[in-house]
Amino acid sequence: MSKYSNEKPVAIVLGGTFPHIKLIENLKKRGYCTILVDYYENPSAKMAADEHYQESTLDMDKVVEIARGRDAKLVISTCIDQANVTACYVAEKLGLPAPYSYETSLAVTNKGIMKDCMVQNGIPTSKYVFIKDLSGFEYAGLKFPVAVKPADSNSSKGVRKACDLDELGRFLDEALKISRTNEAIIEEYKEGREIGVDCVIKDKKASVIMTRERRKVVSNGDPIQQIQGSFWPADITQRNIVALKRIAEDIADAFNLDNTPLMMQTIVNGDDINVIEFGARIGGGENYQIIELHTGLDIIEVAIDSFLGCPLTFDYKAPANFYADIYLYTEPCVFGEFSGYEELVNTGVIEYLHVYKARGVEVGAEISSNNRVGAFLVKSEQIDELYEKINIAIQKIETFDINGRPVLRKDIYCCG
Ligand SMILES: Nc1ncnc2c1ncn2[C@@H]1O[C@H](COP(=O)(O)OP(=O)(O)OP(=O)(O)O)[C@@H](O)[C@H]1O
Ligand SMILES: [Mg+2]
Repeated sequence: MSKYSNEKPVAIVLGGTFPHIKLIENLKKRGYCTILVDYYENPSAKMAADEHYQESTLDMDKVVEIARGRDAKLVISTCIDQANVTACYVAEKLGLPAPYSYETSLAVTNKGIMKDCMVQNGIPTSKYVFIKDLSGFEYAGLKFPVAVKPADSNSSKGVRKACDLDELGRFLDEALKISRTNEAIIEEYKEGREIGVDCVIKDKKASVIMTRERRKVVSNGDPIQQIQGSFWPADITQRNIVALKRIAEDIADAFNLDNTPLMMQTIVNGDDINVIEFGARIGGGENYQIIELHTGLDIIEVAIDSFLGCPLTFDYKAPANFYADIYLYTEPCVFGEFSGYEELVNTGVIEYLHVYKARGVEVGAEISSNNRVGAFLVKSEQIDELYEKINIAIQKIETFDINGRPVLRKDIYCCG
C-alpha cells in the first residue's frame, strides 16, 4: 500500500503559468492534494500548489512515473498546448479521465496535422505546405506574403511574415531549428483583423462565450507576429458570430470533440473568415479572468469538468463593457520590480496589474509570451476612453531590473 494512500486524492497540474493558480485553487476546493510539475524553479503557480516537482511537462514518461508513484486521480492542464498533450498521454496510460484521446490531443496541437484535417473537412483555412527540410523545399505556388512557422511550437516563437523568397528561406531555416521535430508550415498570409473566439462545445453545439481582437506589437520592420494585447469584445458583426459558431461546430465534428472548451484564432475580413488554428482548451494569460468579469462564467471550472468527463453546465451573459489586456515586455534583463501601477489602480485607470516574473528571474531579448513580465487590464464603457487609459498606463508604469535600471519596452504600443 502506498504511504500516501489515506490522504486526499492527488491532482497533478502540468505547467505553473499564472492561470494555473486559479486552477490549483479550484482543485483544492474540490478536495484534491495538488502537485505542480514545472521545469522552472519558481513558476507563478508554485506557491499555490501543495507540492512542486521540478520536471519538464514535455517529459511524458517522467510525468507518468510521478503520476503512478503518487497514485494521481487526475493529470490536468487547462491552457498550455504541449502540457495538454502530456495530460492526455498520461491519462490514457493510467486510465485516468481526459477530455479527449491522446491521438486527438496531437491533432489539435500539431499545426501540420491540424491543417491537414481542417483542409480535409472543409474548414476555411489558408493554403499551406508542410516542410520537413530545407533542401529543395517546395512552396507549391503559394502566393506571397506567406506566414512561416514551426509545426509544433507556440507563443508565436519563430512565426514570421515573409514577403519574398529570400525572406522565406531565412525564416524557414529559423522555424525548422525551433521545431522539436524539425518541421514547419508555410501558409498564405491572410490580411484582416485577428479575432480570437472562446467557445464551449456541448452536445456538439458551440456556444460563443466571448470574442476579442488581438493586436500586434509595433516592431520596427521585424515581421514578428507577437501581440501587445487584446480588445474584448471584438467589434464584429452578428453575421460573423453566426459564421464563427458554425465553424466551431464543424471543427468539433471534424476532430471528434465534445464537452470541451474550444478557442479559435481567426482572421476576419468582411464576411470572409479564415481559421489560423484552434485549441481544444481555454486561453492562457488573462483570458479566464476577463471572461469571468465580462460574462460571469468561470471557464476554469468548465475546463476541470471537461477533464473529469462531467457533462458541462454553464451560464453566461453578454458583455456590457470594453476591456483590454495589455502585455508588458522589457529589454533583456534580470527582472526586479514594477512601479507606478498602484496609483493607477487607486485612480481607476487600470483594474489590476499582474506580475508574471519573480524578482531575480532572467528575461530574454525576444518579444515572446515567455518573456512577458506582466499584464494590466483596463475597462471602460467607451472604446475611446479605453485607449486613453492604456496610453496613460503605458506612460506611468515602469519596470526596473534588479539593479534599478528602467527596462520597460514602451516603443511597441500603438493604440487607438
Ligand atoms: N496565415 C496567416 N495569416 C495571417 N496572420 C497569421 C497567419 N498565420 C499566423 N499569423 C499571425 O501569427 C500569429 C501566430 O501564429 P500561430 O498562432 O500560428 O502561432 P503560435 O505559435 O500558436 O502563436 P500564439 O501562441 O501566439 O497563438 C497569429 O496570431 C497571427 O497574428
Ligand atoms: Mg496560435
